[in-house]
Amino acid sequence: MNSRLRPILSTDMRVVSSINEMQFIAAEARKSGKRISFVPTMGFLHSGHASLLKEGRTRGDILVLSIFVNPAQFGAGEDFDRYPRDMERDSSIAAEAGVDFIFTCTPAEMYPADYQTWVDVTELTLPLCGASRPGHFRGVTTVVCKLFNIVLPHIALFGKKDYQQLAVIRRMVTDLNMPVEVVGMPIIREPDGLAMSSRNKYLSPDERKSSLCLSRALQSVRASYHAGERNAERLKQIVNNIIALEPAVIIDYVELRHCETLAEVAMVDNHSLLALAVKVGTTRLIDNCVLGEDD
Ligand code: PAF
Repeated sequence: MNSRLRPILSTDMRVVSSINEMQFIAAEARKSGKRISFVPTMGFLHSGHASLLKEGRTRGDILVLSIFVNPAQFGAGEDFDRYPRDMERDSSIAAEAGVDFIFTCTPAEMYPADYQTWVDVTELTLPLCGASRPGHFRGVTTVVCKLFNIVLPHIALFGKKDYQQLAVIRRMVTDLNMPVEVVGMPIIREPDGLAMSSRNKYLSPDERKSSLCLSRALQSVRASYHAGERNAERLKQIVNNIIALEPAVIIDYVELRHCETLAEVAMVDNHSLLALAVKVGTTRLIDNCVLGEDD
């Protein structure tokens, strides 16, 4: 048997660092009738990623994790260079979660010098993070499309913390007829409520404490919603008031939108998404909840 395929039939995890090799492995796995589960990440794994891997493990025969800090989704002046990286720690989390293959490659292999093809979801990317980070989602959809062509997954799992990203990827998959099942997984929080994010590493102890106003604000809006408040402006004011108590936290946006179309709403219902983005010092944090759903 070709040694490249051995991990498909054993419990050893392998790191694959070439696009051709990953494509070959995935095609062979498919030929032998295996179902491929895929968790795309930028690494520096935390419990949120681990929950995706755990679910992915149960949904496929072969579990592939990609670790690629994608330069195309970072704007000028954003944190591409300092984005946290720790391959050793990531590998042990991946092995623990039962990953079969970690796919990783260099930016130069993903985007060679003559690269010129981009995937752009037009409308869903206009508001929220798309407005604050021009070009960000074009970078995300392009790399996710490329990763789907490299890993050939049957199913791909994404966290709901990046809610707009998930909506945009679903749109791309539908619009481009990609044969991939996209699964959104619940936000995983620290015991004190902070949503797990690789960027939490940037926070000083004081900033981390201030950041708890995000989950507090979401909870407070949920409580008002369950008590009968439906007016979006009044609900947003609750968030503004809570965040205003933390001078270190600067609001980028507080918005109530339809959870599928992302259209702004004046009166909320069970399908309304409350989406928040803030800056705490130099760190950008996002969080959200759908009013009619548990976290
Ligand atoms: O959510 C992420 O980590 C990234 O945006 C993704 C989906 C891996 C694309 O680079």
